[in-house]
Amino acid sequence: MATLTFLTAPGGALRGRVRAPGDKSISHRAIMLGSLAEGVTTVTGFLEGGDCLATLEAFRAMGVRIAGPKQGRVTVHGVGLQGLRAPASPLDMGNSGTSMRLMAGILAGQAFDTVLTGDASLTRRPMRRITEPLALMGARIEAAATGAAPLCIRGGQRLTGIDYRLPMASAQVKSCLLLAGLYAEGVTRITEPAPTRDHTERMLEGFGYPLARESDRTVAVSGGRRLTGTEIDVPADISSAAFFLVGASLAPGSDLVLEHVGVNPTRTGVIDILRLMGADIEVLKPRLAGGEPVADLRVRHAPLRGIRIPEALVPLAIDEFPALFIAAAGAEGVTVLTGAEELRVKESDRIQVMANGLTALGIAAEPTPDGIVIQGGALAGGTVNSHGDHRIAMSFAMAALRATGPITIHDCANVNTSFPGFVALARNAGLAIQEQETP
Ligand code: S3P
Repeated sequence: MATLTFLTAPGGALRGRVRAPGDKSISHRAIMLGSLAEGVTTVTGFLEGGDCLATLEAFRAMGVRIAGPKQGRVTVHGVGLQGLRAPASPLDMGNSGTSMRLMAGILAGQAFDTVLTGDASLTRRPMRRITEPLALMGARIEAAATGAAPLCIRGGQRLTGIDYRLPMASAQVKSCLLLAGLYAEGVTRITEPAPTRDHTERMLEGFGYPLARESDRTVAVSGGRRLTGTEIDVPADISSAAFFLVGASLAPGSDLVLEHVGVNPTRTGVIDILRLMGADIEVLKPRLAGGEPVADLRVRHAPLRGIRIPEALVPLAIDEFPALFIAAAGAEGVTVLTGAEELRVKESDRIQVMANGLTALGIAAEPTPDGIVIQGGALAGGTVNSHGDHRIAMSFAMAALRATGPITIHDCANVNTSFPGFVALARNAGLAIQEQETP
C-alpha cells in the first residue's frame, strides 16, 4: 500500500475564509437513520471521507438504494426498520469506530447474521463496551478472544430494553444502545457519567422518533415506532475546524473565518479550552440548521498560556486533544490534562503517540495514565510518525506554523477518513505543506 508523508515548512499565518468538510458524526447518523426510515432522506454537506463511506457502503450491501455522494449530496431511499437484507459478505468498517459501534446496535436487532470487521487499528479497539450491554438486551455477538472485532452478530434474537449506566462517557456506546433500543421491546434507558455528543438524540427527533430526555445525562427510547425520511443539512465538522482554530491561534498575523461550523454545545469544548488558554475566538451569526446549532468562527492570533484543563470539558473536546496538545506546546507555561484515559483507545494511543511526536520536536511532554503534562516551549523541526491516526497527522501539520524548522509527518493516508482535501485547504489558508506518496 502506498504511504503518504506530509512535508511542512516553518512559519506562515492562516488567513481568509475556510469551510471545513461535513461533520463526521452527523454524516454517519444521516446514512443510518435515513436507511432505517420510511421514505426518502436527502443529505447535503455529507462528509465524503473514508469513515462515512464505509457506513454508506454497508447499507448499500444490505439492500438500501443510495444515490451519491455527489458534491456532498446523498439521497437515501429508506427501507424502514424491518427492511434491511442480509449482506453477501462481512461488512468492512475500515478505520471507523463510529461505524462499527453504532451499526452493531442496529444489526443486533436484525433477522439475519452479520460480521463486522475493520483495519488493523479498528480490530484492536475495545468492543466489550458495546457487546456486554447488547448481550444484556438479548443480543448474541461473538468477538475475538480480546473482545475486539471481528464481531459476528447473530440475527433473530428478541431484544428487550434495559436500564443501563454507562461506565465511560461515550456517545458511541450510548448511540449503539439507543439504536438497538429501536428494535427492543419496552424502554431502553441510558445514563451517562457526563454529557456526550447528542447527535443521535437530535436526529432521531428529526426523523419523528419519540425520545425522552429525562435529564442532561439520561435518555430513553421505546422500541417499535417508526422513522420518517427527512432533509439533513450537515454543518462543517468542529473537529476538523479545530486544527485551524489551533493553527491560527498560534501563528502571528493569522485572521481566519471558519464557515458554517457545527457548534452543538456537546462539541464545543475545544473553543472553551482554547479561550481559557487566551485564544481570540468569536462565534458569529449563531443559527440552527436542521436541529443542530451552527455558527461562523473567527479566530485571530493571540498569545496562549498553559492551563489545567477542566475535566468536565474532556468529553466535550474528546477528538480535539491532539490539536490542543499542539496549542499547549506553543503556549507559555505548563498544560495539564487529566481524566482523559479514553484517548488511549482512539484510532491510536493518542497520549503516547502525541508525547512521542512532541518530544521529537523538542517539547517536554510527560504522558500519565489518564492524560499528559506539556511544558510549552520552542517547537523545533523534526520527523514524527502519526501511526496512521488522521487527527495526529493534521495536528503536527499545524505545528509547522510555530516551528523553527521543517516537520516531516509519516503515515498520513488516513487523513482521508475524516478530512479529504485537508492539504489543499490548509495550503490555501497559508500553511506551507506538501504531500509525498511513496509506493
Ligand atoms: C463519536 C463519538 C466519540 C468520538 C468519535 C465519534 C460519535 O467517541 O471520539 O470520533 O460519532 O459518536 P466516543 O463516544 O467513543 O468517545
